[in-house]
Amino acid sequence: MIDKIKEHINKVNLFKTVDPKEINSFRIKYLGKKGLLNKFFKFFKDVSGKEKKSFGRELNLLKKAVNEKIKTLQALAESFDEASTDLDLHRPGYHSGIGSRHPLSIVKNRIVSIFSQIGFNLSEGPEIEDDWHNFTALNLPEHHPARDMQDTFFLRKNPDILLRTHTSSVQVRYMENNSPPIRILSPGRVFRNESISARSHCIFHQVEGLYINTQVSFADMKQTLLYFTEALFGKSKIRFRPSYFPFTEPSAEVDIYWGLETETDYRITKGTGWLEIMGCGMVDPNVLSNCGIDSKKYSGYAFGMGIERIAMLLYQINDIRTFFENDIRFLKQFSSTV
Ligand code: DAH
Repeated sequence: MIDKIKEHINKVNLFKTVDPKEINSFRIKYLGKKGLLNKFFKFFKDVSGKEKKSFGRELNLLKKAVNEKIKTLQALAESFDEASTDLDLHRPGYHSGIGSRHPLSIVKNRIVSIFSQIGFNLSEGPEIEDDWHNFTALNLPEHHPARDMQDTFFLRKNPDILLRTHTSSVQVRYMENNSPPIRILSPGRVFRNESISARSHCIFHQVEGLYINTQVSFADMKQTLLYFTEALFGKSKIRFRPSYFPFTEPSAEVDIYWGLETETDYRITKGTGWLEIMGCGMVDPNVLSNCGIDSKKYSGYAFGMGIERIAMLLYQINDIRTFFENDIRFLKQFSSTV
């Protein structure tokens, strides 16, 4: 009989399950009223005197083994149950969305890459400017009426410190510190005290270009800008309309022929087929001398364009505010490798 008990101790030790039902039948089998342990205890009374001691010891070992086994299996079953509600190896992984580039960055990068192919280098300047770099050096002395063309956010008056109203200020900084030949492209954020609407914003982005060398002509500028519009828009018909900027003489506005194929073409070109995309001109000799460049020896051209405007044309976006709201549903529509 002792051997039988030992056999059960072995069995109990080897028993394994996480199924609560099986644990319960195991418990009933050993600890139930009609269970094995009760049977053995009943038998204990009839065991002969000399065997009683070792029989009793084995019986207690079995009881202990059964109780411990039930405890461990129940704990195991519980934790397995908790884990299994979470652990589904067939479930697809959690999707953590990959960001996309902002449309303004995409357009800016494209513009930069087009000009860098013909030798333009990047040059950036500060967003907080002084009066000299934003206005005076660019042939816009105090009280010049053209200052009203751009409503300015002033940070301090006398001496004037302001948020730059255009990236043309970077031209001045670069010319002051470098000598020709100069071929730079300056993208950046600009600020104007304007009310916000679908068409205009108080913060926007520009790209400024500047080329200074000996014998630079208006024809050079036309050719460069034609190369650019072909590369960016795939449109090869452009026109130069006479215009006025204090820092260039002569000045022009560049229009591209967009076409009149769709209803949208009619709407955005106001029925003309033409779209204005930038300002440009031959750098005024006054600006060259203000920046310490010999205007008798050197000449050059400059141009400036709004990145939002170009992005709106390329992506057919009709509200400038969408660029700044950072609505993820808007942003995730853009993807790019640049
Ligand atoms: N600074 C002008 C603006 O903000 C844009 C511009 C026009 C820049 C003509 C130029 C230029 O360099 O030559 O409206």
